[in-house]
Amino acid sequence: MIEIDEVSKQFQTKKGTVTALQDVTLNIERGQIFGIVGYSGAGKSTLIRLINKLEKPTSGRIIVDGENITTLKPQLLRKRRQNIGMIFQQFNLFKAKTVAENIKYPLKLSKKYSKEELDQRVDELLNFVGLLDKKYDYPAQLSGGQKQRIGIARALATNPEILLCDEATSALDPETTDEILRLLKRINQELNITIVLITHEMEVVKAICDEVAVMEQGRIVEQNKVFELFTNPLHPTTKRFVHSVLNDHVPKGVERSRKLYRFIFNHQQILEPVLSQIGRKYEVDFNILYGSITELTDRLFGNLLIEAVGPDYKVQFALLELKQHGIEIKEVEGFES
Ligand SMILES: Nc1ncnc2c1ncn2[C@@H]1O[C@H](COP(=O)(O)OP(=O)(O)OP(=O)(O)O)[C@@H](O)[C@H]1O
Ligand SMILES: [Mg+2]
Repeated sequence: MIEIDEVSKQFQTKKGTVTALQDVTLNIERGQIFGIVGYSGAGKSTLIRLINKLEKPTSGRIIVDGENITTLKPQLLRKRRQNIGMIFQQFNLFKAKTVAENIKYPLKLSKKYSKEELDQRVDELLNFVGLLDKKYDYPAQLSGGQKQRIGIARALATNPEILLCDEATSALDPETTDEILRLLKRINQELNITIVLITHEMEVVKAICDEVAVMEQGRIVEQNKVFELFTNPLHPTTKRFVHSVLNDHVPKGVERSRKLYRFIFNHQQILEPVLSQIGRKYEVDFNILYGSITELTDRLFGNLLIEAVGPDYKVQFALLELKQHGIEIKEVEGFES
């Protein structure tokens, strides 16, 4: 659906050349919620702005729906843009326009609709985002979450196939963030819209994304399905992001002499009492120092920090049998005590 092919982007500034993106290659399949995470300045906004050509790449190609938008003529570009909605951290609503006028704005640009059709579409969209009663209000009269819903309604007005979200929940409190994320999920599932979502919060990725790319200094350092990325992060930056939500460090005060292991459980293993069964069989006590079970894209993922107490050879047998059950086991070394 969206192919980004060896794209680089440089900005010329008074202080010299800034490289925002370097050799980025990315393939976003139709129907996904695709997350892009990275710290500030990683190049996330630049990347997403290339997709609707708010920025032009310095080199490389961007293909949307089989069409190379890097070389698109202005007239066709306008048409293409109607196929891509975008929402922003600061909502970007027109302050002097009512909610209804804000939503009509992109439809009026295309000049295809009668007044009745416009009104009907506005009602439809407001209904969808649950704010029909705010039709004649001005943005200043709305809460942050409501403003974002209107931003979403406006982005959906032209029936796009793609919705780009640049930190769409970063200005909102956690509860409102959840509401907006649920709305985005509905948009993805009910309207079958492909969503590309930028965030610096792993919680957001965990909540709704199917696949995710991690960016650093203009490059994509890792990309994977959400479950795989959370359960097996490879790049140090990815590990930092994953740790920020899984909280899987060794608690303070645990002596370094203890033998600690990290057990990673998948969905099926969580539902069975393997740990206690195998512990009993080999007379090994598993002492849980930290544990979490997380729901990731409808699958459970267990992450336990465990001390194995028992004679060494028995511990080894027990660990072996746990591994045969598919539980991933890593020895934990070098932790701070
Ligand atoms: N118009 C511009 N002119 C000059 N430099 C720019 C411009 N836009 C972005 N940059 C630079 O490109 C780099 C990437 O910026 P970008 O806004 O894409 O990062 P980001 O990952 O979205 O960061 P944040 O999380 O803070 O929004 C930064 O070094 C930034 O200063
Ligand atoms: Mg940004």
